[in-house]
Amino acid sequence: MAPTSSGYTGTAKALHWLIVLLLIAQFIFAWTMPHIGRNTPVTTLISLHFTFGIIILAVAIVRLAWRLTHREPPPEDGLPPWQNLSAHIVHWLLYALLFVIPILGWINASWRGMPIVMFGLELPQLITTRAAGWGWTGDVHGLMSNYLMLALVGLHVVAALYHHFVRHDGVLKRMLPR
Ligand code: HEM
Ligand code: HEM
Repeated sequence: MAPTSSGYTGTAKALHWLIVLLLIAQFIFAWTMPHIGRNTPVTTLISLHFTFGIIILAVAIVRLAWRLTHREPPPEDGLPPWQNLSAHIVHWLLYALLFVIPILGWINASWRGMPIVMFGLELPQLITTRAAGWGWTGDVHGLMSNYLMLALVGLHVVAALYHHFVRHDGVLKRMLPR
C-alpha cells in the first residue's frame, strides 16, 4: 500500500494515534505513581508504568520499521522549505525519544533492582543492580520525558493547529482518521 499525495496510509495513522493514546496513559501513570527512591516497592502504578513503557517501545520498533520500508507522503504543496525541514527534524527527534526514553527507563529499573514483569513474564535486567556509573539514568529519563518530549510534542501540536486554523491547508487532515 503506497501513500498517496493526499495523506498517510491507514497503518501510519493507526500507529501514530496508538502511540499518542499510550503516551497519555503513560504520563498519567508517571505523574501519579509513588516517587521512586531506594527501596520503593513496585506498586501497581509503577508496574503499569513499566508495562506501558515497554509496549510503547515495541510499537515504536514496529513504527520505525514501517517508516523505513514505506515512504512518507510528499509534503503538502506550497509549504515553505523551512517548515518541511523543521517538521522533519521534529519527527525524527520524536522517533529518537520513543526509543531513548523507554530504554533509559529500563536501564534505571534494572539499576534499582526493580523487576519488570510483562503479562507474567519477567524481562531481563539490562545492567546489574547498582552497577557503578548508571545512577543518572533515572533523572535523565524523567527530564527527557517531562521537558524535552513534552516540549517537542507541544511544538508539533501547535504546528498542526497552525496549519489547520491559520493556513487552512491539509497538513492536519492528512494525519486524521477518515
Ligand atoms: C515512552 C515511555 C516512557 C515515558 C514517557 C516515561 C515517563 C516517565 C516520567 C515522566 C517519569 C518521571 C516521573 C516524575 O515526574 O517523577 C518517569 C520515571 C521513571 N520511569 Fe518512565 N517513562 C517511560 C518508560 C519507562 C520504562 C519502559 C521503564 C522501565 C521499564 C520506566 C521506568 C521508570 C523509572 C524507574 C522511573 C523513576 C526514575 C527516577 O526517578 O529515578 N519508564 N518515567
Ligand atoms: C494531539 C497530538 C498530535 C497531533 C495533533 C499530531 C499531528 C500530526 C500531524 C498532522 C502529522 C503529519 C505532519 C505532516 O504531514 O508533515 C504528524 C506526524 C507525525 N507525528 Fe504527530 N501529532 C500528535 C502527537 C504526536 C506524538 C505524541 C508523537 C510522538 C511522540 C508524534 C509523532 C509524529 C511523527 C513521528 C510524525 C511523522 C509521521 C510518521 O513518521 O508517521 N505525534 N502528527
